[in-house]
Amino acid sequence: MNPTPLPTQRVLLGVTGGIAAYKAAELVRLLVKSGREVTVVMTAAAREFVGPATFQALSGHPVYSDLWDTRPDNGMAHIELTRHHDAMLIAPASADFLARLVHGRSDDLLTTTVLARTIPLLVAPAMNLQMWQNPATQRNVATLRADGVHVIGPGCGEQACGETGDGRMLEAHEILAALDAWAQPKTLRGKRVLITAGPTQEAIDPVRVITNHSSGKMGYALAQACAEAGADVVLVSGPTHLPTPFAAAAHGEPGSLRRVDVLSAAQMLAAVEAEVDESDIFIAVAAVADYRPVTCAEQKIKKADAGLDIHLEPTVDILARIARHQRRGAGKSGPPLCVGFAAESENVEQYGAEKRARKGIPLLIANHAQSTFGADDNQVTLIDERGAAGATRLPKMGKLALARALVAEIAGRI
Ligand code: CTP
Repeated sequence: MNPTPLPTQRVLLGVTGGIAAYKAAELVRLLVKSGREVTVVMTAAAREFVGPATFQALSGHPVYSDLWDTRPDNGMAHIELTRHHDAMLIAPASADFLARLVHGRSDDLLTTTVLARTIPLLVAPAMNLQMWQNPATQRNVATLRADGVHVIGPGCGEQACGETGDGRMLEAHEILAALDAWAQPKTLRGKRVLITAGPTQEAIDPVRVITNHSSGKMGYALAQACAEAGADVVLVSGPTHLPTPFAAAAHGEPGSLRRVDVLSAAQMLAAVEAEVDESDIFIAVAAVADYRPVTCAEQKIKKADAGLDIHLEPTVDILARIARHQRRGAGKSGPPLCVGFAAESENVEQYGAEKRARKGIPLLIANHAQSTFGADDNQVTLIDERGAAGATRLPKMGKLALARALVAEIAGRI
């Protein structure tokens, strides 16, 4: 099972009149950089803020503004434009433009194109916080949502007018992420997914720990991909420097993401056990310490010429324990669907198959330890009950793209 995301290859970008129009220039740049084709339609008000030459240069295509534009062969820009694009995105969408959409106005090229479109519409509102909070705007946004328009943002923060609050257009990279998230198939809608990510830290004394090189990137990418697929995700994270993954749920999509921070393997186990009864899927990506110091010194250990012996004891294997766990959540019994990761430095298929059987889990994702820690790309091999002989090697790809492919695989198994 490999559901295809909604196409967003050719984006028709509408720019309306607001100071955030300057951010639309960066948005065009990022859309083009992501390999997409972009055509820009500007309202007359938008042209007061940014010149069409900017958008033409960044998109590499002519910019449209005039309903009576004669460039399309049939002279009907509003029809031609939507028929040759996959999705229409309005960013920024001003309060006035949202109101005009609600009433189905068609008195300029952009509103007429919206009415004539056959493709999905996404809007990224941008306005002063009072304008956003005004009941009229909130009514308009609710109506647009009910009409099937996907609303991205707005964000909260300092505004061009000097006030602070809701109404800011999201940053270009956030809009791009929201567009990507929106396009993902909702294969995990209604499912709860529990994910561990990152390293653990096992304390030796108040200032020293035993840890490992795990960056958390793969686990965070999977958390994001699961939320994009509509799941409610709990991300139990060891210490990382990563921001919490972008949750499309904040923008009217199904799916949500909650992060629980832990340090040690014992804390990770406790956090997982607190969530597992309600979870449908458990994905163990964390590089959990296999051993921890038997005791943690109360005070900092002083340097001694004789050297230092640290006595270690094994930690609990969280994945193996959850694979045997009998859930007591509403409508749930037996263990959740358990997926493990294995960082192997040699004989990836064979060691991975043995590890899968030892841990008692249906699916193990094995990767090369040398290539994965801290990297943005990853190459993995999927190992299930068919063992090493039936292992499937996926091509090397970015961790988010890989996470989305793994979500499709996992969704097909639940
Ligand atoms: N894991 C876990 N709890 C542990 C150790 C590992 O949940 N205490 C999980 C990891 O999150 C991963 C899988 O088990 O999904 C494999 O971990 P790995 O360390 O590669 O395997 P080990 O069983 O520890 O075997 P070894 O280190 O000998 O390769």
